[in-house]
Amino acid sequence: MMRVFLILLWTMVQQNIPQAAGVKVFPPVNFTLTVSSLAQVLLHWEPNPNQEQKNYTIRYDVKILSPVPEEYDTKKTHSIRTAALHNGFSAHVRTLLFHNDLQMRSDWVKENLPPPPGDPETSVTNLSCVTRITISSTVSLHCSWLPGQEAPEDTKYSLFYRYETYTEECQDYIKDKWNRNTECRFSVTHIDPEEVDKLVVIHINGSSKYAAIKPFQQLFNQNAIEKVNVPRNVTVFLEQNDLLATWEKPISPFPKECFEYEFYLFNLKSGNKQILKISSNDFRLQIDVTSRYSIQIRANHRICRARGFWSDWSEIIYVGQNKLENPVTWILTVLCVFTCCTFLLVAIICKM
Ligand SMILES: *[C@@H]1O[C@H](CO)[C@@H](O)[C@H](O)[C@H]1NC(C)=O
Ligand SMILES: *[C@@H]1O[C@H](CO)[C@@H](O)[C@H](O)[C@H]1NC(C)=O
Ligand SMILES: *[C@@H]1O[C@H](CO)[C@@H](O)[C@H](O)[C@H]1NC(C)=O
Ligand SMILES: *[C@@H]1O[C@H](CO)[C@@H](O)[C@H](O)[C@H]1NC(C)=O
Ligand SMILES: *[C@@H]1O[C@H](CO)[C@@H](O)[C@H](O)[C@H]1NC(C)=O
Repeated sequence: MMRVFLILLWTMVQQNIPQAAGVKVFPPVNFTLTVSSLAQVLLHWEPNPNQEQKNYTIRYDVKILSPVPEEYDTKKTHSIRTAALHNGFSAHVRTLLFHNDLQMRSDWVKENLPPPPGDPETSVTNLSCVTRITISSTVSLHCSWLPGQEAPEDTKYSLFYRYETYTEECQDYIKDKWNRNTECRFSVTHIDPEEVDKLVVIHINGSSKYAAIKPFQQLFNQNAIEKVNVPRNVTVFLEQNDLLATWEKPISPFPKECFEYEFYLFNLKSGNKQILKISSNDFRLQIDVTSRYSIQIRANHRICRARGFWSDWSEIIYVGQNKLENPVTWILTVLCVFTCCTFLLVAIICKM
Protein backbone atom coordinates (compact mmCIF):
# COMPACT_ATOMS: atom_id res chain seq x y z
CA MET A 1 0.00 0.00 0.00
CA MET A 2 2.74 2.42 1.02
CA ARG A 3 4.77 1.50 -2.06
CA VAL A 4 1.83 2.21 -4.37
CA PHE A 5 1.40 5.62 -2.76
CA LEU A 6 5.09 6.46 -3.16
CA ILE A 7 5.09 5.43 -6.82
CA LEU A 8 2.03 7.57 -7.37
CA LEU A 9 3.70 10.55 -5.69
CA TRP A 10 6.89 10.00 -7.71
CA THR A 11 4.90 9.93 -10.95
CA MET A 12 3.21 13.21 -10.04
CA VAL A 13 6.52 14.87 -9.27
CA GLN A 14 7.99 13.53 -12.51
CA GLN A 15 5.11 15.02 -14.46
CA ASN A 16 5.38 18.42 -12.84
CA ILE A 17 9.08 19.07 -12.99
CA PRO A 18 9.52 19.16 -16.78
CA GLN A 19 6.50 21.45 -17.14
CA ALA A 20 7.67 23.87 -14.47
CA ALA A 21 11.16 23.90 -15.86
CA GLY A 22 9.80 24.76 -19.31
CA VAL A 23 7.99 27.89 -18.12
CA LYS A 24 9.84 31.14 -17.70
CA VAL A 25 8.49 34.13 -15.81
CA PHE A 26 9.64 37.54 -16.95
CA PRO A 27 9.27 40.72 -14.92
CA PRO A 28 6.88 43.43 -16.18
CA VAL A 29 8.31 46.24 -18.33
CA ASN A 30 7.92 50.01 -18.54
CA PHE A 31 6.94 50.40 -14.88
CA THR A 32 6.12 54.06 -14.23
CA LEU A 33 4.87 56.14 -11.32
CA THR A 34 2.89 59.28 -12.16
CA VAL A 35 1.40 61.83 -9.80
CA SER A 36 -2.20 61.91 -11.03
CA SER A 37 -3.53 64.44 -8.51
CA LEU A 38 -2.61 65.77 -5.05
CA ALA A 39 -1.30 62.88 -2.94
CA GLN A 40 -2.26 60.35 -5.61
CA VAL A 41 0.04 58.09 -7.65
CA LEU A 42 -0.76 56.05 -10.71
CA LEU A 43 1.36 52.88 -10.94
CA HIS A 44 1.48 51.51 -14.46
CA TRP A 45 3.37 48.66 -16.17
CA GLU A 46 3.17 46.45 -19.25
CA PRO A 47 3.34 42.66 -19.49
CA ASN A 48 6.76 41.48 -20.59
CA PRO A 49 6.56 40.93 -24.40
CA ASN A 50 8.67 37.78 -23.97
CA GLN A 51 6.17 36.28 -21.57
CA GLU A 52 4.40 33.23 -23.07
CA GLN A 53 0.63 33.73 -22.63
CA LYS A 54 -0.57 30.18 -23.29
CA ASN A 55 -2.94 28.83 -20.63
CA TYR A 56 -1.19 30.43 -17.69
CA THR A 57 -2.82 32.82 -15.31
CA ILE A 58 -0.73 35.94 -14.99
CA ARG A 59 -1.09 38.30 -12.08
CA TYR A 60 1.12 41.01 -10.60
CA ASP A 61 2.46 41.38 -7.12
CA VAL A 62 2.75 45.03 -6.01
CA LYS A 63 4.81 46.04 -3.03
CA ILE A 64 4.72 49.66 -1.82
CA LEU A 65 7.82 50.35 0.27
CA SER A 66 7.20 53.96 1.27
CA PRO A 67 5.67 56.15 2.56
CA VAL A 68 3.27 53.47 3.92
CA PRO A 69 4.26 49.81 3.28
CA GLU A 70 1.57 47.76 1.58
CA GLU A 71 1.48 44.57 -0.48
CA TYR A 72 -1.24 43.29 -2.79
CA ASP A 73 -1.71 41.44 -6.07
CA THR A 74 -3.82 42.36 -9.07
CA LYS A 75 -4.52 41.08 -12.54
CA LYS A 76 -4.62 44.60 -13.93
CA THR A 77 -1.53 46.42 -15.19
CA HIS A 78 -2.22 49.60 -13.26
CA SER A 79 -3.21 50.70 -9.81
CA ILE A 80 -3.91 53.98 -8.00
CA ARG A 81 -2.67 54.79 -4.52
CA THR A 82 -3.34 57.73 -2.20
CA ALA A 83 -0.47 58.77 0.06
CA ALA A 84 1.37 61.84 1.32
CA LEU A 85 4.12 62.27 -1.27
CA HIS A 86 6.35 64.91 0.32
CA ASN A 87 8.95 62.26 1.22
CA GLY A 88 8.70 60.52 -2.12
CA PHE A 89 7.10 57.22 -3.07
CA SER A 90 8.72 53.87 -3.79
CA ALA A 91 7.22 50.65 -5.16
CA HIS A 92 8.16 47.24 -6.62
CA VAL A 93 6.19 45.07 -9.01
CA ARG A 94 6.72 41.48 -10.28
CA THR A 95 4.93 38.94 -12.44
CA LEU A 96 3.13 35.99 -10.85
CA LEU A 97 2.43 32.97 -13.00
CA PHE A 98 -0.02 30.26 -12.02
CA HIS A 99 0.14 26.97 -13.85
CA ASN A 100 -1.84 24.05 -12.49
CA ASP A 101 -0.92 24.09 -8.81
CA LEU A 102 2.32 25.81 -9.43
CA GLN A 103 3.01 29.45 -8.67
CA MET A 104 6.11 31.15 -10.06
CA ARG A 105 7.43 34.65 -9.50
CA SER A 106 9.66 36.88 -11.57
CA ASP A 107 12.25 39.29 -10.23
CA TRP A 108 11.05 42.62 -8.86
CA VAL A 109 11.07 45.80 -10.96
CA LYS A 110 11.65 48.91 -8.85
CA GLU A 111 10.62 52.49 -9.29
CA ASN A 112 10.46 55.55 -7.08
CA LEU A 113 9.33 59.16 -7.05
CA PRO A 114 11.97 61.37 -5.45
CA PRO A 115 10.88 63.79 -2.70
CA PRO A 116 10.22 67.33 -3.97
CA PRO A 117 13.15 69.77 -3.53
CA GLY A 118 13.59 71.87 -0.40
CA ASP A 119 14.94 71.52 3.12
CA PRO A 120 12.42 69.52 5.22
CA GLU A 121 12.68 72.28 7.86
CA THR A 122 11.06 74.73 5.41
CA SER A 123 7.84 72.64 5.40
CA VAL A 124 4.94 73.64 7.59
CA THR A 125 4.53 71.74 10.87
CA ASN A 126 1.71 71.11 13.37
CA LEU A 127 -0.99 71.10 10.72
CA SER A 128 -4.45 70.69 12.15
CA CYS A 129 -7.76 70.86 10.33
CA VAL A 130 -11.37 70.98 11.48
CA THR A 131 -14.58 70.67 9.47
CA ARG A 132 -18.08 71.72 10.46
CA ILE A 133 -21.48 71.02 8.99
CA THR A 134 -23.20 74.32 8.29
CA ILE A 135 -26.88 75.09 8.62
CA SER A 136 -27.23 74.77 4.84
CA SER A 137 -25.79 71.19 4.99
CA THR A 138 -22.48 72.05 3.41
CA VAL A 139 -19.11 71.47 5.05
CA SER A 140 -16.70 74.23 6.01
CA LEU A 141 -12.97 73.62 6.54
CA HIS A 142 -10.47 75.44 8.72
CA CYS A 143 -6.77 74.57 8.88
CA SER A 144 -3.88 76.05 10.83
CA TRP A 145 -0.16 75.33 10.88
CA LEU A 146 3.22 76.65 11.97
CA PRO A 147 5.81 77.88 9.45
CA GLY A 148 8.88 75.63 9.20
CA GLN A 149 11.83 76.65 11.38
CA GLU A 150 14.04 77.22 8.34
CA ALA A 151 11.35 78.98 6.30
CA PRO A 152 12.56 82.50 5.36
CA GLU A 153 10.45 85.43 6.51
CA ASP A 154 9.19 86.08 2.99
CA THR A 155 7.78 82.54 2.66
CA LYS A 156 4.35 82.52 1.11
CA TYR A 157 2.52 79.28 1.90
CA SER A 158 -0.43 78.11 -0.21
CA LEU A 159 -2.96 75.52 0.90
CA PHE A 160 -4.94 73.21 -1.35
CA TYR A 161 -7.46 70.59 -0.41
CA ARG A 162 -8.54 67.62 -2.50
CA TYR A 163 -11.71 65.61 -1.90
CA GLU A 164 -12.25 62.75 -4.37
CA THR A 165 -11.55 64.37 -7.77
CA TYR A 166 -12.11 67.96 -6.65
CA THR A 167 -9.14 70.21 -5.83
CA GLU A 168 -9.31 73.81 -4.66
CA GLU A 169 -6.84 76.44 -3.51
CA CYS A 170 -7.49 78.50 -0.40
CA GLN A 171 -8.52 82.14 -0.98
CA ASP A 172 -9.00 83.22 2.63
CA TYR A 173 -5.81 83.20 4.73
CA ILE A 174 -4.93 84.49 8.19
CA LYS A 175 -1.32 85.69 8.57
CA ASP A 176 1.30 85.77 11.33
CA LYS A 177 3.25 88.90 12.35
CA TRP A 178 5.69 88.41 9.44
CA ASN A 179 2.78 88.32 7.04
CA ARG A 180 3.15 84.58 6.43
CA ASN A 181 -0.02 82.53 5.91
CA THR A 182 -0.67 80.31 8.94
CA GLU A 183 -4.40 79.63 8.72
CA CYS A 184 -6.92 79.08 5.98
CA ARG A 185 -10.70 79.02 5.87
CA PHE A 186 -13.10 77.57 3.32
CA SER A 187 -16.66 78.51 4.26
CA VAL A 188 -17.95 75.97 1.71
CA THR A 189 -16.18 72.88 0.36
CA HIS A 190 -17.00 69.90 -1.84
CA ILE A 191 -16.80 67.58 1.18
CA ASP A 192 -20.00 65.51 1.28
CA PRO A 193 -21.47 65.70 4.82
CA GLU A 194 -23.20 62.32 4.41
CA GLU A 195 -20.13 60.35 3.36
CA VAL A 196 -18.28 58.13 5.80
CA ASP A 197 -14.51 57.68 6.07
CA LYS A 198 -13.55 59.50 2.87
CA LEU A 199 -10.21 61.28 2.83
CA VAL A 200 -9.55 65.00 2.82
CA VAL A 201 -6.09 65.61 1.34
CA ILE A 202 -4.30 68.76 2.44
CA HIS A 203 -1.33 70.05 0.45
CA ILE A 204 0.67 73.08 1.58
CA ASN A 205 3.52 74.32 -0.58
CA GLY A 206 5.23 77.65 -0.63
CA SER A 207 7.62 80.01 -2.34
CA SER A 208 10.41 82.29 -1.18
CA LYS A 209 13.13 84.34 -2.87
CA TYR A 210 15.79 82.75 -0.65
CA ALA A 211 15.03 79.03 -0.47
CA ALA A 212 13.06 76.21 -2.02
CA ILE A 213 10.08 75.51 0.24
CA LYS A 214 9.35 71.82 0.61
CA PRO A 215 5.66 70.94 0.19
CA PHE A 216 3.81 69.09 2.92
CA GLN A 217 0.82 66.76 2.60
CA GLN A 218 -1.45 65.15 5.12
CA LEU A 219 -4.49 62.90 4.74
CA PHE A 220 -7.42 63.30 7.13
CA ASN A 221 -10.46 61.10 7.59
CA GLN A 222 -13.33 63.55 7.02
CA ASN A 223 -15.24 62.25 10.05
CA ALA A 224 -12.30 62.30 12.44
CA ILE A 225 -11.78 66.07 11.97
CA GLU A 226 -15.42 67.06 12.19
CA LYS A 227 -16.21 69.43 15.02
CA VAL A 228 -19.72 68.37 15.91
CA ASN A 229 -22.34 71.13 16.24
CA VAL A 230 -23.81 72.11 19.61
CA PRO A 231 -26.99 70.34 20.81
CA ARG A 232 -30.02 72.56 20.18
CA ASN A 233 -33.01 73.73 22.17
CA VAL A 234 -31.76 72.59 25.55
CA THR A 235 -34.50 72.94 28.17
CA VAL A 236 -34.12 72.21 31.84
CA PHE A 237 -36.72 72.31 34.60
CA LEU A 238 -37.42 70.95 38.05
CA GLU A 239 -40.13 68.49 38.98
CA GLN A 240 -40.26 67.97 42.73
CA ASN A 241 -36.79 66.60 43.56
CA ASP A 242 -35.86 65.79 39.98
CA LEU A 243 -34.08 67.75 37.35
CA LEU A 244 -35.43 67.12 33.88
CA ALA A 245 -33.56 68.03 30.71
CA THR A 246 -34.39 67.62 27.03
CA TRP A 247 -32.56 68.72 23.88
CA GLU A 248 -32.39 68.22 20.13
CA LYS A 249 -29.54 66.59 18.20
CA PRO A 250 -26.98 68.94 16.63
CA ILE A 251 -27.34 70.12 13.03
CA SER A 252 -26.25 67.05 11.03
CA PRO A 253 -27.51 64.79 8.23
CA PHE A 254 -27.20 61.83 10.61
CA PRO A 255 -30.16 60.64 12.73
CA LYS A 256 -30.35 61.18 16.47
CA GLU A 257 -29.28 57.59 17.26
CA CYS A 258 -25.81 58.51 16.00
CA PHE A 259 -25.03 60.90 18.84
CA GLU A 260 -23.99 60.80 22.43
CA TYR A 261 -23.84 63.62 24.92
CA GLU A 262 -21.98 64.80 27.94
CA PHE A 263 -24.06 66.48 30.58
CA TYR A 264 -22.17 68.83 32.86
CA LEU A 265 -23.84 69.55 36.17
CA PHE A 266 -22.29 72.04 38.57
CA ASN A 267 -23.69 72.55 42.08
CA LEU A 268 -23.05 76.25 42.75
CA LYS A 269 -23.55 75.81 46.49
CA SER A 270 -21.28 72.86 47.19
CA GLY A 271 -18.95 73.34 44.20
CA ASN A 272 -19.61 69.72 43.24
CA LYS A 273 -19.05 68.89 39.54
CA GLN A 274 -20.50 65.96 37.65
CA ILE A 275 -20.11 64.90 34.00
CA LEU A 276 -22.57 62.25 32.84
CA LYS A 277 -22.48 60.39 29.52
CA ILE A 278 -25.91 60.06 27.93
CA SER A 279 -26.99 58.46 24.66
CA SER A 280 -30.61 59.64 24.60
CA ASN A 281 -32.09 63.12 24.13
CA ASP A 282 -33.50 63.51 27.60
CA PHE A 283 -32.46 62.96 31.11
CA ARG A 284 -33.83 62.85 34.64
CA LEU A 285 -31.74 63.10 37.78
CA GLN A 286 -32.52 63.50 41.45
CA ILE A 287 -30.85 66.61 42.82
CA ASP A 288 -30.53 68.59 46.01
CA VAL A 289 -33.39 71.10 45.68
CA THR A 290 -31.79 73.52 48.12
CA SER A 291 -28.94 74.15 45.66
CA ARG A 292 -28.63 76.17 42.53
CA TYR A 293 -27.12 74.34 39.54
CA SER A 294 -25.54 75.33 36.25
CA ILE A 295 -25.97 72.95 33.31
CA GLN A 296 -24.24 72.53 29.95
CA ILE A 297 -24.40 69.82 27.27
CA ARG A 298 -22.06 68.88 24.42
CA ALA A 299 -22.31 66.27 21.64
CA ASN A 300 -20.20 63.83 19.64
CA HIS A 301 -20.77 60.98 17.23
CA ARG A 302 -21.21 57.63 18.89
CA ILE A 303 -21.94 55.19 16.06
CA CYS A 304 -22.67 55.60 12.32
CA ARG A 305 -19.24 57.10 11.66
CA ALA A 306 -15.86 57.81 13.24
CA ARG A 307 -15.91 60.05 16.27
CA GLY A 308 -15.11 63.68 15.60
CA PHE A 309 -14.16 66.44 18.01
CA TRP A 310 -16.63 67.13 20.85
CA SER A 311 -18.91 70.05 20.12
CA ASP A 312 -18.61 73.24 22.13
CA TRP A 313 -20.61 73.26 25.37
CA SER A 314 -24.12 74.63 25.08
CA GLU A 315 -24.88 77.94 26.79
CA ILE A 316 -25.07 77.80 30.57
CA ILE A 317 -28.54 77.23 32.00
CA TYR A 318 -29.23 77.78 35.70
CA VAL A 319 -31.85 75.98 37.73
CA GLY A 320 -32.88 76.00 41.37
CA GLN A 321 -32.40 78.55 44.11
CA ASN A 322 -29.85 78.54 46.86
CA LYS A 323 -31.96 78.29 49.99
CA LEU A 324 -30.62 78.84 53.48
CA GLU A 325 -31.55 75.75 55.42
CA ASN A 326 -31.66 77.28 58.91
CA PRO A 327 -33.93 80.24 59.82
CA VAL A 328 -31.54 81.11 62.70
CA THR A 329 -28.71 81.71 60.20
CA TRP A 330 -31.06 83.91 58.22
CA ILE A 331 -31.96 86.02 61.27
CA LEU A 332 -28.32 86.30 62.30
CA THR A 333 -27.34 87.47 58.82
CA VAL A 334 -30.02 90.17 58.79
CA LEU A 335 -29.02 91.25 62.27
CA CYS A 336 -25.36 91.44 61.30
CA VAL A 337 -26.08 93.56 58.22
CA PHE A 338 -28.32 95.81 60.24
CA THR A 339 -25.66 96.35 62.93
CA CYS A 340 -22.99 97.14 60.37
CA CYS A 341 -25.22 99.67 58.67
CA THR A 342 -26.01 101.35 61.96
CA PHE A 343 -22.33 101.63 62.85
CA LEU A 344 -21.56 103.09 59.46
CA LEU A 345 -24.36 105.62 59.80
CA VAL A 346 -23.22 106.63 63.28
CA ALA A 347 -19.67 107.00 62.05
CA ILE A 348 -20.76 109.24 59.18
CA ILE A 349 -22.92 111.40 61.46
CA CYS A 350 -20.06 111.77 63.99
CA LYS A 351 -17.63 112.82 61.24
CA MET A 352 -20.09 115.51 60.08
C1 LIG B 1 8.13 50.30 -23.38
O1 LIG B 1 8.52 51.63 -23.66
C2 LIG B 1 9.26 51.73 -24.86
C3 LIG B 1 9.77 53.15 -24.97
O2 LIG B 1 8.77 54.09 -24.59
C4 LIG B 1 8.39 51.34 -26.04
O3 LIG B 1 9.14 51.42 -27.22
C5 LIG B 1 7.93 49.92 -25.84
O4 LIG B 1 7.02 49.56 -26.87
C6 LIG B 1 7.22 49.78 -24.49
N1 LIG B 1 6.96 48.38 -24.26
C7 LIG B 1 5.74 47.91 -24.05
C8 LIG B 1 5.63 46.44 -23.84
O5 LIG B 1 4.75 48.64 -23.99
C1 LIG C 1 -5.01 25.19 -23.13
O1 LIG C 1 -5.77 24.29 -22.36
C2 LIG C 1 -6.74 23.55 -23.09
C3 LIG C 1 -7.56 22.73 -22.16
O2 LIG C 1 -7.07 22.72 -20.90
C4 LIG C 1 -6.01 22.70 -24.13
O3 LIG C 1 -6.95 21.99 -24.92
C5 LIG C 1 -5.16 23.60 -25.01
O4 LIG C 1 -4.40 22.82 -25.88
C6 LIG C 1 -4.23 24.46 -24.18
N1 LIG C 1 -3.53 25.41 -25.04
C7 LIG C 1 -2.24 25.63 -24.99
C8 LIG C 1 -1.71 26.65 -25.92
O5 LIG C 1 -1.51 25.05 -24.20
C1 LIG D 1 4.06 71.18 17.45
O1 LIG D 1 4.19 69.77 17.42
C2 LIG D 1 5.22 69.27 18.25
C3 LIG D 1 5.36 67.80 18.00
O2 LIG D 1 4.19 67.21 17.60
C4 LIG D 1 4.89 69.60 19.69
O3 LIG D 1 5.92 69.12 20.53
C5 LIG D 1 4.76 71.10 19.84
O4 LIG D 1 4.38 71.42 21.15
C6 LIG D 1 3.76 71.67 18.86
N1 LIG D 1 3.83 73.12 18.91
C7 LIG D 1 2.75 73.88 19.09
C8 LIG D 1 2.98 75.35 19.17
O5 LIG D 1 1.64 73.42 19.15
C1 LIG E 1 1.85 74.38 -5.24
O1 LIG E 1 1.02 73.27 -5.57
C2 LIG E 1 0.09 73.54 -6.61
C3 LIG E 1 -0.80 72.34 -6.74
O2 LIG E 1 -0.06 71.19 -6.99
C4 LIG E 1 0.82 73.90 -7.88
O3 LIG E 1 -0.11 74.19 -8.90
C5 LIG E 1 1.72 75.09 -7.62
O4 LIG E 1 2.48 75.37 -8.76
C6 LIG E 1 2.63 74.83 -6.45
N1 LIG E 1 3.35 76.05 -6.12
C7 LIG E 1 4.66 76.09 -5.89
C8 LIG E 1 5.23 77.39 -5.55
O5 LIG E 1 5.33 75.09 -6.01
C1 LIG F 1 -36.11 74.77 18.65
O1 LIG F 1 -37.10 75.63 19.13
C2 LIG F 1 -37.58 76.54 18.17
C3 LIG F 1 -38.52 77.51 18.84
O2 LIG F 1 -39.09 76.97 19.98
C4 LIG F 1 -38.26 75.79 17.05
O3 LIG F 1 -38.72 76.68 16.05
C5 LIG F 1 -37.26 74.84 16.43
O4 LIG F 1 -37.90 74.04 15.46
C6 LIG F 1 -36.66 73.94 17.50
N1 LIG F 1 -35.57 73.22 16.89
C7 LIG F 1 -35.53 71.92 16.89
C8 LIG F 1 -34.35 71.30 16.23
O5 LIG F 1 -36.38 71.25 17.42
